[in-house]
Amino acid sequence: MLAAVGSAVGLGNIWKFPYLAGANGGGAFVLVYLLCVAVVGIPLLIAEVLIGRHGRLSPVNSLARLARKAHASHLWPLAGAVGMVAGLIILSFYSVIGGWALAYVVRTASGLFVDVTAEGAANIFQGLIRDPERLLAWHTLFILMTALVAVRGVRSGLEQAVRLLVPALIILLLVVVGYNLNSGHFMQALDFLFRPDFDRFGANGALQALGHAFFTLSLGMGAMLIYGSYLPAAAPIPRMALAVALLDTLIAMLAGLAIFPLVFANDLAPGSGPGLLFTTLPVAFGHMPGGTYVGTLFFLLLVLAAWTSAISLLEPLVAWLVENLRLQRSRSVTLAAFLAWLLGLVSLLSFSRWAFSFRFGGQVRHNGWFDALDVLTSGIMLPAVGLAIALFGGWVLPRRITAGELGNGPVGHLWRLAIRYLVPLAIATVFLGMTGVI
Ligand code: TRP
Repeated sequence: MLAAVGSAVGLGNIWKFPYLAGANGGGAFVLVYLLCVAVVGIPLLIAEVLIGRHGRLSPVNSLARLARKAHASHLWPLAGAVGMVAGLIILSFYSVIGGWALAYVVRTASGLFVDVTAEGAANIFQGLIRDPERLLAWHTLFILMTALVAVRGVRSGLEQAVRLLVPALIILLLVVVGYNLNSGHFMQALDFLFRPDFDRFGANGALQALGHAFFTLSLGMGAMLIYGSYLPAAAPIPRMALAVALLDTLIAMLAGLAIFPLVFANDLAPGSGPGLLFTTLPVAFGHMPGGTYVGTLFFLLLVLAAWTSAISLLEPLVAWLVENLRLQRSRSVTLAAFLAWLLGLVSLLSFSRWAFSFRFGGQVRHNGWFDALDVLTSGIMLPAVGLAIALFGGWVLPRRITAGELGNGPVGHLWRLAIRYLVPLAIATVFLGMTGVI
């Protein structure tokens, strides 16, 4: 369970959620995102963990084993394979952003942000992302850190780290929120984040909200499935899923309240994109008492949170390589991490030499391959795999298996209703909305 929290809580909550909310108009996005977490995310989280615990293997092989048991098509494991590839792609750009966080530990610790203006912070950020060689060094370091832990296997150290990490992260976010209560434009931020305005919100916003519900809960690639396969038989899955979703959402909301009052106080654009976190918080750290220490600790915790998530992005592929190709764990990790590192170069250059813009769903994306890979994974692959897992869990798995895992009480019934009807319907609606059919 702690490993699942470690996987869920990461850059998605603190870096990605705020910039997506900002780029998609605020309140309406936040509301749809919260709905997606509750209606699609929690039932799917339960489904993934349940399939993993019953299958006891990597996602592909768990699905194969359960499909055989249910006398169903042997194509179901394909969902696991697509998820594995999605994980690799996500890790490739996740590591680049993890690298930004690493760079900011050093920058904050060196006192670079003392008394910084919003403009100064923006310049420092641009200086970093337009420098591919620097980014390469940080990206490489982040992948190496991830591989190092992955070689030693998930478990003991990870759980201890998460036990410390999550409360510490909440406290530091509260410190920034507290600072904003005095110095930021707090009410304006509340209004922006929580008063829905559906006038400028369409299918593309809904797809991003749905995609982000998958991303932030680590769903649709098998990460939660594989953690389920390590779970003891007696653990209460629904209660754990609820706890993971609540903690994850709490941290995202706090991140929003840490960032947006600064956005409005400094006249910044809420929709400025992936740099939002890195151009706002340093301004607060530069002005609060003890800000250098608070800021350094904050970015350190952000790195740690990204790290525990990155490990889970690697795990399904590594487990599959060990099970199917009979590779040693260390070789599997090396191979998977190398592939993610290589693909990461594409995202890394998206902010300088290979920069280009494109249109998707009526919205202009400015960050080239980085945005394209994000659309491909969060917008298409994760929800598609999620749809397959919902259909598999709701319609293919025999009831005696799911009831055996969840019990015959009201929770099991509610889950069954959600996973059979609500989840597929919600995902299909958003997909069809994008194609313009509805
Ligand atoms: N959930 C993590 C975050 O919010 C990222 C992540 C880890 C992830 N494992 C995943 C996203 C699997 C999608 C699928 O930072």
